[in-house]
Amino acid sequence: MTPPPNDPTPTGAIPLIPQPDHGHVSHEVPKERVVAKLPTPAEDPQWYRTAVFYEVLLHSFFDSNDDGTGDFEGLRQKLDYLAWLGVDALWIPPFYPSPMADGGYDIADYTSVDPRYGGMEDFNRLVEEAHDRGIRIVIDMVMNHTSDQHPWFQASRNDPTGPYGDFYVWRDRPSEYLDARIIFIDTEDSNWSYDEVRGQYYWHRFFSHQPDLNFENPAVREAIKNVLRYWADTGVDGFRLDAIPYLYEQDGTNCENLPPTHDFISELRQMVDEEYPGTVLIAEANQPPHEVVAYFGTDAEPECHICFHFPIMPKIFAALREETSRGVREAFAATPPLPKGGQWGTFLRNHDELTLEMVTEEERQAMYGWYAPEPRMRSNVGIRRRLMPLLRGSRREVELAHALLLSFPGSPFLYYGDEIGMGDDIWLDDRNGVRTPMQWDSSEGAGFSKADPKDFYLPLVSSGSYAPAAVNVAEHRKRPTSMLNWLRSMLEVRKRYPVFGIGSLTLLSTSDDAVLAFLRRDERQTVLCVNNLSTTSRSATIQLPGMGGWHLYDTASGNRFPDVREDETVDITLGRHGFYWLDVTFLDNEEDEDNQ
Ligand code: NOJ
Repeated sequence: MTPPPNDPTPTGAIPLIPQPDHGHVSHEVPKERVVAKLPTPAEDPQWYRTAVFYEVLLHSFFDSNDDGTGDFEGLRQKLDYLAWLGVDALWIPPFYPSPMADGGYDIADYTSVDPRYGGMEDFNRLVEEAHDRGIRIVIDMVMNHTSDQHPWFQASRNDPTGPYGDFYVWRDRPSEYLDARIIFIDTEDSNWSYDEVRGQYYWHRFFSHQPDLNFENPAVREAIKNVLRYWADTGVDGFRLDAIPYLYEQDGTNCENLPPTHDFISELRQMVDEEYPGTVLIAEANQPPHEVVAYFGTDAEPECHICFHFPIMPKIFAALREETSRGVREAFAATPPLPKGGQWGTFLRNHDELTLEMVTEEERQAMYGWYAPEPRMRSNVGIRRRLMPLLRGSRREVELAHALLLSFPGSPFLYYGDEIGMGDDIWLDDRNGVRTPMQWDSSEGAGFSKADPKDFYLPLVSSGSYAPAAVNVAEHRKRPTSMLNWLRSMLEVRKRYPVFGIGSLTLLSTSDDAVLAFLRRDERQTVLCVNNLSTTSRSATIQLPGMGGWHLYDTASGNRFPDVREDETVDITLGRHGFYWLDVTFLDNEEDEDNQ
């Protein structure tokens, strides 16, 4: 077999290697998913690059003891569901003792679990049984701040000269760091608050009940490292590092992404590499591309394995309303290359507002106009709504958004409940409207809990078309064409195509701006992704340099599409919001085709 003459990879980085066994064109879908024994991190140190993550809010997932709050045992009982769905890793937001004034991101004790979720033995059992099913566990680590109820803060405010006196950032006057923006603009008007007990001001980047730790103090750095060690010893597979750009302050700067912050993250990485090899660090750094990428560190001083790609997310939503691929293309053009071993974390929604911090004022106003016409839908600099209602209940739009999420470079992070198109409740405070109980069935408590629904941690969504009677897992599982079954089959395809996790991205020229086409490619697989961002059907000519005569197969069905023409173009027709993932194969003679 002679490889084709032109290398269509613009960078030339990946040589054309025709796949010798053509195994990838067999699209038989196994009836039952076979769960292989989870390889150790040493056997599969790159697992996070091909994984699909699922963010699950413990208190809202499943209540095993009928007290109205979800718990570890509840999540454990739902592991079979998550394995059936096909997710590879769970991200569990904070479950530590907490006054819950910030959904648990206000930690009052770093080294135990809040009793409302169970005990350490329940946590350990969850980790073990998740691993048995091939599912990894990533937990949240909030290093920037604690709750004001944390014993460290209580000691610090009561005993300024004691061992914790310098654990927080105290000043006599609130006159420093005034160039730092306020993040929670709905509730805070300063990053300084006065503490009557100590008679001084303390620094906080988030709520005033969340004092920032003082990372200038070596004892704080050591204490935080020990917290990571404590949890790494339980066998968790990784940490989502919350709010890491804000660890250090420096006057005259915006107090974000400062060099000592990077130094500390790289110190943490060195620690996990040495003591817990394979444990993954995930950066929550809501920053512009050139700042985000810095959290991967350098080859000599690596920092995080995954960084959430905040800038691309709002572009997906904007693209669906502008019906053009321009914004997404520009966002990719502004995305710096990934360093070796690095990976983007991509997402559509999560437990926070859909953040609009990384867009221009004009884009922000457009997003509010499209997606948050009611003031109640807005929160801080963002939109507190779930995916399905955001996309006006349009199954086609939700599918296209997922198709983009699952095919863009990066490891996708799904948000619990979005797999069945759960709704939200904009009348709940803060971001609680997107954190309501999982809807398992149509019973009174939605299968979430047998407690009286008035005792639920948060109320169920009650609006008609999104209420549990209409939207629930049991109904979705029964119906072969449901969103849940559709997503499951998409995850199955993604699993057969690791190229989505590790391949390069090449944006392709198309004759229609509303059609976004790109190649995902590595040495073994090439997939052509074509997406119609518009509300009308389109037919577009796509340029595939160097691929004249190559064959196209639908990755989901295995069905053959017309070959790429000798002039290296192909015409693809798509219904409104339609998309294809096409396996691109080079075969140089009929004999090869017969051998497939
Ligand atoms: C980021 C978390 O995602 C968010 O939920 C929280 O409110 C802030 N950190 C502050 O803790």
